[in-house]
Amino acid sequence: MPNAYISGTGFYVPPRVVTNQMLADDYGIDTTHEWIVQRTGIEERRFSDPGVATSDLAAEASEAALEAAGLTKEDVDLIILATLSPDCHFPGTGVYLQRRLGMTEGKDAKFVPALDIRNQCSGFVYGLSVAASMVQAGNLKHILLVGAETHSHAMDMTTRGRNVCSLFGDGAGAVIVSATEEDRGIRGWNLGADSRFADALCQKIWTIADETCFPLDEQGRGIVEPELMWAHMNGKVVFKHAVQRMIESLMQVCMKLDAKRDDIDLFFFHQANLRINEYIAKMLGIPSEKLPHNIERFGNTTAGTIPIMLAEAERNGTLQRGMKIAMVAFGSGFTWGAAIVDW
Ligand code: UT7
Repeated sequence: MPNAYISGTGFYVPPRVVTNQMLADDYGIDTTHEWIVQRTGIEERRFSDPGVATSDLAAEASEAALEAAGLTKEDVDLIILATLSPDCHFPGTGVYLQRRLGMTEGKDAKFVPALDIRNQCSGFVYGLSVAASMVQAGNLKHILLVGAETHSHAMDMTTRGRNVCSLFGDGAGAVIVSATEEDRGIRGWNLGADSRFADALCQKIWTIADETCFPLDEQGRGIVEPELMWAHMNGKVVFKHAVQRMIESLMQVCMKLDAKRDDIDLFFFHQANLRINEYIAKMLGIPSEKLPHNIERFGNTTAGTIPIMLAEAERNGTLQRGMKIAMVAFGSGFTWGAAIVDW
């Protein structure tokens, strides 16, 4: 059975920086830089320009990851894309990424499968478990796994939406999960979900149980009320469960793999709130130098946070071959997951 390792990483964030102060000045939101920094650690985030979609960000990150792995798009056997901000309702964004990468062009086009993962902030860790399983089963050699989000085009950028829109940013991270005979790679994972809290953080837009799925006006246009249109979050409930589930998930994967806290060189925690992560680190006795973060620059990029951090850490030399790393995520669903990788 081959091992599955991460042979390349890449990331892309759109160039437009939106500071906390700009949320107040440019969007007229009743907020302050101090409030956002104190509660979340976020100082700025990136927003895409009009016309840019999640598959566009994903394509940039994918090309960087392929280059880092020394591979070309012809080497990819499967695309897995995790997002909660898809290009459209259907088809999935994985196929748009395939098209955007030009993977259907030329006589040697392989028309590889494209799988979408819908697990919000846990999407990357869920996707990693699927990619590793497929590689370890011996079926596939190189899987392109991407976490990408374009939040900025679908948030309530008013004071009504301030508890959500001040947290999220756009960006994409990609990894290549490859087969190897070497003794390294993705060692194991722990995943979970608690559907009792499915409505604690959600963006419904429409309800398929209703006929039609949203009311129509006389011209047949859909009417979407603000309660359905925009994301809703019970921040305090999310905060409490994030702390509990991230700790549990990390401890479970460590126990399963017999990994001790001090064996782990770096902890890549989902970037939802710096205070959540600092609290967990304090509870578990993880020193701050083992806890990379980029939430202050990018906000919460949901499925993108962990792969963006991996790519940044590889490029700035923090993450090196031979290290043992852990990743942990929690988000809407609720869903959560943790994984351990020998880099
Ligand atoms: O990936 C997973 C996604 N999300 C998370 O992990 C988020 C977890 N939760 C949190 O990080 C925190 O709950 C928040 C940072 C989102 C909010 O902090 P909080 O202390 O739980 O605030 P709250 O939601 O209880 O709101 C307290 C007040 C409210 O005002 P009123 O109703 O008391 O007048 C909010 O409207 O803070 C207000 N508020 C803001 N004020 C200024 C909420 N967002 C803002 C804002 N600026 N950006």
